[in-house]
Amino acid sequence: MSSAPLPNRPVPRPGVLDIEAYVPGKSQGGAGVKVHKLSANETPLGPSPKAVAAFQSANALELYPDGSSLKLRETIAGAYGLDPARIVCGTGSDELLMLTASAFAGPGDEVLFSQHGFLVYRIAALAAGATPVVAPEKDYRTDVDALLAAVTERTRVVFLANPNNPTGTYIPFDEVRRLQRGLPPNVLLALDAAYAEYVRRNDYEAGIELVATCSNVVMLRTFSKIYGLAALRVGWLYGPAEVVDAINRIRGAFNVSAPGLAAAAAAVEDTAHVEAAIAHNETWLPWLTEKLTALGLTVTPSVTNFLLVHFPDVEGRTAKDADAFLSARGLILRRVDSYGLPGALRLTIGTEEANRLLVEVLAEFLGKVGAGDGA
Ligand SMILES: Cc1ncc(COP(=O)(O)O)c(C=O)c1O
Repeated sequence: MSSAPLPNRPVPRPGVLDIEAYVPGKSQGGAGVKVHKLSANETPLGPSPKAVAAFQSANALELYPDGSSLKLRETIAGAYGLDPARIVCGTGSDELLMLTASAFAGPGDEVLFSQHGFLVYRIAALAAGATPVVAPEKDYRTDVDALLAAVTERTRVVFLANPNNPTGTYIPFDEVRRLQRGLPPNVLLALDAAYAEYVRRNDYEAGIELVATCSNVVMLRTFSKIYGLAALRVGWLYGPAEVVDAINRIRGAFNVSAPGLAAAAAAVEDTAHVEAAIAHNETWLPWLTEKLTALGLTVTPSVTNFLLVHFPDVEGRTAKDADAFLSARGLILRRVDSYGLPGALRLTIGTEEANRLLVEVLAEFLGKVGAGDGA
């Protein structure tokens, strides 16, 4: 019996080299200009001062952290009325997305998500050895019928970001429930609610209720966005006991750092800080939407702390041209070519200073000086 010759060096398993490594939002602008980083959906308000104090006091650096994240899980459970045993914390929600895919999908299985879904879903599927499957969207919105039509007997996990990044669009809870009801019971629905706090509706309570009552739904949350703790890498997942158990078996034993645990617990308790961040967003999201629309740009309606802005396919006015123009003035936005959106840029709602400057510089870029002025 002849077999293929063995490779003469270690070879990654199938799928790994199909991954295009995640490219984070840029953080550098033109030389000598003040930089406004609007490329990674971080909060312009920064973290709660209470979280910063807790971070600073977690300074016994020689000690391993609590590998079970008990205090943080209890704090989250208290705030949301959940069972702490059904929460698992992670090194950002990214890690939990990866672990979810690895625990429930492998070679021969499919991981499903929508067309412009968050890039990590594809990475998580391929890293698990599974096949990523994409369902088309309508008007940059998740299409539940398209997702359901793409389900096969090989589907194991469906990732749904709601609101989605980079589109900023959202489907109401009824649609999420329709998706869950349409899925076979062996398919895990992972609701990625990274931007939940920005959405002023009851839907997240309903979503958590769905997790509480279904054996195939989890919800993922993060401390990187409204809580302003992206540097510390803390996220959490709430799910059925069996799912949490599976993830606990494969996660790193000490996957969240002690300063991260301390800061996140303090952040949950500072509800006034979260309210301030919501209020800031509620002022500037509509303001920016209106100003950019008035400049003639197409803005996808967003419910969260960022906007997808579409540029004309006209030489000198494209998204790429705009990105170069804005970067030189210190305004760092996110190119979204890797999401199949080469004609758009994604921008995070920034400080008042950054938002006003953005409108001013875009007006200049589009040759409409004067049009973007005014409160
Ligand atoms: C939809 C979505 N999910 C998850 C994440 C990951 O967040 P983190 O790993 O910082 O918790 C992000 C980050 O941009 C995101 O946009």
